[in-house]
Parts: sequence; structure tokens; C-alpha cells
Amino acid sequence: MTRPLRVAIVGAGPAGIYAGNILNRQVTEAGGEVAIDLFESLPAPYGLIRYGVAPDHPRIKGIVNSLHEMLDAGTIRLIGNVEVGRDITVDELRERYDAVVFATGALRDAPLDIPGIDLPGSYGAADVVAWYDGHPDVAREWPLEAEQIAVIGNGNVALDVARVLAKHPKDLLSTDVPANVVAGLEASPVTDVHVFGRRGPTHVKFTPIELRELGEVPDVDVIVYDDDFERAAGDPHADQLLASNNQVKVMTRTLNGWRKPADWVPTASRRLHLHFLHAPVEVLGVDRVEGVRFERTRPVGDGSVVGTGEFVDVPVQAVYRAVGYASSPLPGVPFDERRAVIPNDGGRVTDAAGQPIPGVYATGWIKRGPVGLIGHTKGDALETITNLLADAAAGALPEPTVSAGPDGDEVFELLEGRGIRFTTWAGWLELDAHERGLGEAWEPTDAAHADIVRERVKVVPRDEQVEISRAGALVGS
Ligand SMILES: Cc1cc2nc3c(=O)[nH]c(=O)nc-3n(C[C@H](O)[C@H](O)[C@H](O)COP(=O)(O)OP(=O)(O)OC[C@H]3O[C@@H](n4cnc5c(N)ncnc54)[C@H](O)[C@@H]3O)c2cc1C
Ligand SMILES: NC(=O)c1ccc[n+]([C@@H]2O[C@H](COP(=O)([O-])OP(=O)(O)OC[C@H]3O[C@@H](n4cnc5c(N)ncnc54)[C@H](OP(=O)(O)O)[C@@H]3O)[C@@H](O)[C@H]2O)c1
Repeated sequence: MTRPLRVAIVGAGPAGIYAGNILNRQVTEAGGEVAIDLFESLPAPYGLIRYGVAPDHPRIKGIVNSLHEMLDAGTIRLIGNVEVGRDITVDELRERYDAVVFATGALRDAPLDIPGIDLPGSYGAADVVAWYDGHPDVAREWPLEAEQIAVIGNGNVALDVARVLAKHPKDLLSTDVPANVVAGLEASPVTDVHVFGRRGPTHVKFTPIELRELGEVPDVDVIVYDDDFERAAGDPHADQLLASNNQVKVMTRTLNGWRKPADWVPTASRRLHLHFLHAPVEVLGVDRVEGVRFERTRPVGDGSVVGTGEFVDVPVQAVYRAVGYASSPLPGVPFDERRAVIPNDGGRVTDAAGQPIPGVYATGWIKRGPVGLIGHTKGDALETITNLLADAAAGALPEPTVSAGPDGDEVFELLEGRGIRFTTWAGWLELDAHERGLGEAWEPTDAAHADIVRERVKVVPRDEQVEISRAGALVGS
């Protein structure tokens, strides 16, 4: 091929950025040329790192720094505030690029199909996460009126939600949370957050650092229940996990360390309770959430549990389901409704007959489902890009039918013609600097917060993000 390979990547989360970086590196190392456009529906890059990772997890910022370098190198052109499937169709991308890689992640909550789940006061974790992380497309107000809260699920998202809701807001002030989130949390009357897992303490899907962190939250006591551990005892599957898996060993030690003598009394003003072997069966209430009914479960020895027929009602005024995320279909791209992923073979998107669709690829959570850490999206991207380049070498990519224009600007003309106010990498640098400036300018309202340094304060409204991004940045740069 005498012209550069042209590739569109859809989604500027970690999966899309890693894919662009690996693609650029592999092609240039082989002496070739590649032009990569990275389309993102939000005005800013980084996907769930910006809008999912909890604000009090600053060590993840290290990952953002390396993704920043990848985009800052100038080899990947970020085109933000453009929703593929709405502002530009998948067919229009396929007409313009040799290959299109979907890295659209998972944005919504998986359903929990129990009676009462739609009552007012019952929420999805993805929604509250988007609220506290300042996502531009969710409501700015969040009703924090409950003293007792239930969080259903034993994954890291459940821990994030429980920790953020239990935390005193001053302990979030040094993070990038928007001002309205601090104000909302300050008004929260919460005293008790209860996290419920349907399996036992050995089968949690937490990770050790995230679990241990619960014990370090100021003025929040962690409470576990001996009865849960006793019910879980004697499970050969748990014993085998404990003997073979170091993470399980560490977490079991952490959980056991929170068991207290019978005469122990909590001293903190808030409590975070971890319950096990509780399967949710109904959200209780007439006009709004008044509690959750659980069936107690017991392990059957193969890692699963069965109901015991014993039910317990836990009074709470709000319930958050953190039972996993789910991806959404894109118009014009096959979608496996059951697994909520784009069907693919090693990243090559497949049609209803299971055959690869030439020039169409997937990577990240949309490729393999909403499980795994940011680092795991790197391996995904490597597999997908390796297959894409093998297809390119084999001449198996369809030839684009629309010219990119002399500077590759045809796509910008198309978007401008539609009145789409797209953002660019230069625009993100503007917004990034603006948010850091807001952090620097932040002044504590009382002496108790005098020593708090804010690295960044996020801008939330989409229009404001777009205005700031476009104000000083050259379009197309
Ligand atoms: C609440 C939460 C907290 C997490 N915390 C951590 C953590 O602390 N550490 C860790 O390692 N992992 C964490 N993870 C996991 C991590 O976020 C994921 O592994 C990772 O983000 C998946 O990357 P992705 O690029 O596939 O998807 P995403 O990060 O979701 O990125 C997808 C991108 O595609 C864009 N997009 C979607 N549809 C379109 C469209 N039609 N057109 C254009 N763009 C589109 C989205 O706006 C988004 O920017 C967390 C996950 C969640 C849900
Ligand atoms: N700090 C971090 O590193 C961090 C933070 C957040 C997220 N993440 C990662 O992001 C990924 C997604 O996390 P996640 O918490 O959304 O998913 P997850 O790890 O898959 O956990 C989902 C939890 O929901 C439970 N569940 C599912 N259906 C249920 C039902 N019907 N009733 C009761 N419980 C149900 C599961 O129980 P079973 O196990 O019994 O199925 C599991 O405990 C994970 O890989 C996670 O590690 C990482």
C-alpha cells in the first residue's frame, strides 16, 4: 500500500487508546505509515478512567499520565464530542477508513430482575458513579436522603459505591469531585451502608487493596458478621480457593481481621457492614424503598450457592445494585444481546454466520464483557491490532471509497457541515489546564479544610467542556 493505512477507533477509553498506540508502534516499526482517528462521544478522553474510577483513587492517575503521553505524541487524532451511530454512521466510517475498531466499553448497569427494583430510592451503581464522577449526561442532583443504604453485589464497583457513600465528604475534597457532588454528600444523613454478597466471603470479586482500603476510611467502622463466616465454613470449593489463590488468602485474612469480640461497640459515626450469603429477592416498599428482602444462601461445594428458604428483611431507604455493567449496541454493528458484547473472534467482528466482517474489529469491554482492570485492555488491544495488521498484510481489508482529502480533513468538513462541535487533543489540553486551574484557585470555606490541595476540579456540563475545549484550540490539530 503506497498511502498510509487509515484506521478509525471508536471510543477513547483505555482500550481505544492502547489500540491506537499499539497500532501506531507496530506499523511504524515495520517501516509503514498509519493515520489513526480516535472518535469519542464525550468532549474529553479516558472513558471510565475519567467517569468510572472513584475520585479517591488517585494512584490510577499514573495510568492516565501514560495514556496522555500516547495521545500527546501526535500520532493519534482525537475527535471528541462525536457519537458514532448518531453524528456519523458506521457505514460512513467504513467508507472512509481501511478498518474501524470499536472500543465503546460498557456504560450502563446490568439489570437485577427482582420485584420492586424500579421503586423510587432504587438506583444503579453506574448512575451514581456517573454522578459522583461528574459525567456530563447524568442528572446533577442526586437524592442522598437515606440513613441506611443497601449495596447489592460483591465486586469492586460495590466497594467503590459503598465507600464513597459512607465517606465523610471532607475526605473527598482533595480529589477532583465537582462542587455539586461535595455539596450533595455534605447533605447526606447516612449512618450505615450495608454491602450484600450472594456468595460467601471466599467468593468475593473484590481485589485485596480495594478491600483493605475500607478499613482505612476515617470515622467509618467496618463490620462483618460471625454468622456469615460460620454458614460459609466447610465449603470444599472455598477451601481449595483459599489454598491455591493468594489474593483470596489475603482478602480472607482482611475480612477475618474485621471480626470483633462479642463485647465490641462501634465508635465511628458511620458504619460499613459486609454481609455474605444473602441473595436479593425483593426490594420492599409501597411508594419508595423501605427495605430489601434477602434469602439466605448456602454453598453447595462447587463455587455456587442455593437458597435455604430462610428470608430476612433489612430496613433501608435506598438500594444500589452493583451487579455488573452492560454494553450497548451500536447501529450498524452486530451485537450479542445475551452477552452484551460485539461478537468477535480475537477482535475480528463476526456476522450472524460467525464469519469475520472485513475491516471491522472490537477491543476492550465491548469485545469481552465488563470485567477486568484497565491494564487488561492492553492485552485485548494487542490481540485485536495483531489480527487487524495480519488482515492488512493479507490484503483482506476493503478499500475506502471516500478520499480522506489532502490533509485527512474530509471528515472534519463532514462533521462541520452537520454542525457537530467536535473537540480535539489541543482542546483537551485546554480543558485539562482549565480544570487544573480551578483546582489551584480552590479556596477552603473553613479552617478545617485549610490544608487541602486540589489538583483538579472537573468541569461537568457538556456545553461548557466544549466551549473551553474549542476556545483556544485549533480545530483539526
Ligand atoms: C465504576 C468503575 C470503577 C473502576 N475502577 C477501576 C480502577 O480503579 N482500576 C482499574 O484498573 N479498573 C477500574 N475499572 C475498570 C476499567 O474502568 C475498565 O477496565 C476500562 O475502563 C475498560 O476500558 P474500555 O476502553 O473498554 O471502556 P471505557 O473505559 O468505558 O471506554 C469506552 C469509551 O467509548 C466511548 N463511546 C461509547 N460509545 C461511543 C460511541 N457510540 N461513539 C463514540 N464514543 C463512544 C465512551 O464514551 C468511552 O469514553 C473500573 C470500572 C468501573 C465501572
Ligand atoms: N479499584 C478497582 O480496581 C476497580 C474498581 C471498580 C471496578 N473494577 C473492575 O471493573 C470490573 C467490573 O466490576 P463490577 O463490580 O461491576 O463487576 P464484578 O466484579 O463482576 O462483580 C459483580 C458482583 O455482582 C454480583 N451479582 C451479579 N448478579 C447478581 C444478582 N443477580 N444478585 C446478587 N448479586 C449479583 C456478583 O456475584 P457473583 O460473584 O456471585 O456472580 C458479583 O459479586 C471488575 O473487573 C472490577 O474488578 C476495578
